[in-house]
Amino acid sequence: MTSADQRSVHVPVMPREVMQWLQLSAGLTVLDGTLGAGGHSRLILKSLGETGRLIGLDRDPMMLALATQNLASIQHPGTSFVRSSYADAETVLQTLGIERVDRVLLDLGLSSDQLSDRERGFGFDAGGPLDMRFHPHENKPVSELLRTLEGSELEKIFREFGEEPAAAKVASEIVRRRQQGNPVVTTEDLEACVSAAVGAAKNAGGRNSATRVFQALRIAANNELQHVERMLTNVLPNIMKTDGIVVILTFHSLEDRIVKNAFKGHQGWQVLTKTPVEATPAEVRLNPRSRSAKLRATKWLGSC
Ligand SMILES: C[S@@+](CC[C@H](N)C(=O)[O-])C[C@H]1O[C@@H](n2cnc3c(N)ncnc32)[C@H](O)[C@@H]1O
Repeated sequence: MTSADQRSVHVPVMPREVMQWLQLSAGLTVLDGTLGAGGHSRLILKSLGETGRLIGLDRDPMMLALATQNLASIQHPGTSFVRSSYADAETVLQTLGIERVDRVLLDLGLSSDQLSDRERGFGFDAGGPLDMRFHPHENKPVSELLRTLEGSELEKIFREFGEEPAAAKVASEIVRRRQQGNPVVTTEDLEACVSAAVGAAKNAGGRNSATRVFQALRIAANNELQHVERMLTNVLPNIMKTDGIVVILTFHSLEDRIVKNAFKGHQGWQVLTKTPVEATPAEVRLNPRSRSAKLRATKWLGSC
């Protein structure tokens, strides 16, 4: 289990580019909406000087504990870490007495620390019970969704959140198993279902399908896209200072599309990255997770 006693295995994605687009200087107030193990926040803190402020949020209490431990040695007086969704950032900032911020970083999705934790069930390589919730008491574990949702609802999740071509086949395989008294409760069970529906999981097609199906269920279990949409549309305009900059890293096309559409041609926003910035081949070699990352930066011009 991810705990404060564990060391982080997560390598921050595009650290140089994130810092370049954030354009930090001493004294700024920065919101890291997806603190994770604090990899990016560590770099941010180094640029803020004594007078700057960093507010770090994470939905996952275990990640918050890990970040607190990882960043303890920095001892910056203006640091606050809060267990919260970034979609509730406005309330968190109000509680801290902060009206608006100069910079926001969102590094969406999940961290390698969560992915490699057997007890969380986020990935088929790690194994374990199918939970996948960012917070242990919010929403329902994936195993319960797979036990209770109609086949058509499961198919919709795989199609809409995973863009999985074999959505219908995977959904019927899950329903078939539970009707036979073999509900899908572990990552291994789910991988076997995908494998049975689309071919051996070891071949590229099966592995890609398994990746898409796991992603779809994680998005569904955590209502991830709703949180992103709420943050971009309802929250950011209320918490950004004029000329403040937002930097967002996405890892799949659904999220990237939401980010692109939230800013492009929208009053109040000036898109800074004409096309999304991608990781260099050298970074992808060192950190394969960066392969699918897309960075977009945008400036809040203020409401007219
Ligand atoms: C890719 S990791 C961030 C890694 C971090 N930038 C670092 O360098 O260590 C994404 C983090 O966002 C968190 N997260 C996901 N959805 C969230 C939400 N709606 N609000 C706050 N945190 C969220 C996850 O729990 C995870 O820890």
